[in-house]
Amino acid sequence: MAGRADGFVGVFDSGVGGISVLRSLVAELPHEDFRFFGDSAHAPYGEKTESQVLELARDIVGRLLDEGAKAIVIACNTATSVAAEVLRAAHPDVPIVGIEPALKPAALAFPHGRVVVMATEVTLRLEKYHELASHWGGSCEVVAVPCPGLAARIERGGLDEPDLTETIRDLVGEWAGRVDAVVLGCTHYPFVRRQIATVLGDGVRFFDGGEGTARRLASRLRETGLLAERGRPGRVELASSLNTPEELALYQRFYELPL
Ligand code: DGL
Repeated sequence: MAGRADGFVGVFDSGVGGISVLRSLVAELPHEDFRFFGDSAHAPYGEKTESQVLELARDIVGRLLDEGAKAIVIACNTATSVAAEVLRAAHPDVPIVGIEPALKPAALAFPHGRVVVMATEVTLRLEKYHELASHWGGSCEVVAVPCPGLAARIERGGLDEPDLTETIRDLVGEWAGRVDAVVLGCTHYPFVRRQIATVLGDGVRFFDGGEGTARRLASRLRETGLLAERGRPGRVELASSLNTPEELALYQRFYELPL
């Protein structure tokens, strides 16, 4: 008989960005089934109001649970900052794992360095980020750089086109040659790591929250007895609120892109 552990893990983001997290999840938990939902019809979340993001996140989680998700990963820093606590309170029996900017490992690696945190305006505005920055920014210098427009540009694909590098130069170019580490505090940004390095210089180290989120999911599934025990590799499904063949092909390309 199928038990709850046989269910899938629901993963969502405002769009393609969460696919960077999904890849860490699959690498850490290759026997789990994952259903990814990207809300590209409503992206970017990082430039919406908090109540809009909360409503969208609530709807998506409700739907994933109705479809049989055994656990949820919020593969979006913005939605985690806005909605994780509310969603956990609404669904106390479901493991709900979020993501946050990976400032901790960056600060530990560069205790006296300068760390740039790239993220959405909403993520950088909320209390959760300010707590993180005041906790880990004790000795290193933490520079928060909101990146309006960047996630929306990444959503359009064409990552090798020069306008994308120019957008990144406009956002962080002033730090070229003057930064030790960059925290990719939005799940879209790991897809443009190479372009950010082109702007800031090859010596910069990058940190993102994907692997930490994957380890956290593994331990939550273990603690709750929900780890899948199956002989076959897990299945991965990709879905989007922009449900067109072109959009799904874009999602598939992001799933396969070298990172
Ligand atoms: N990928 C999301 C994040 O991690 C949000 C990007 C957006 O929709 O603004 O914050």
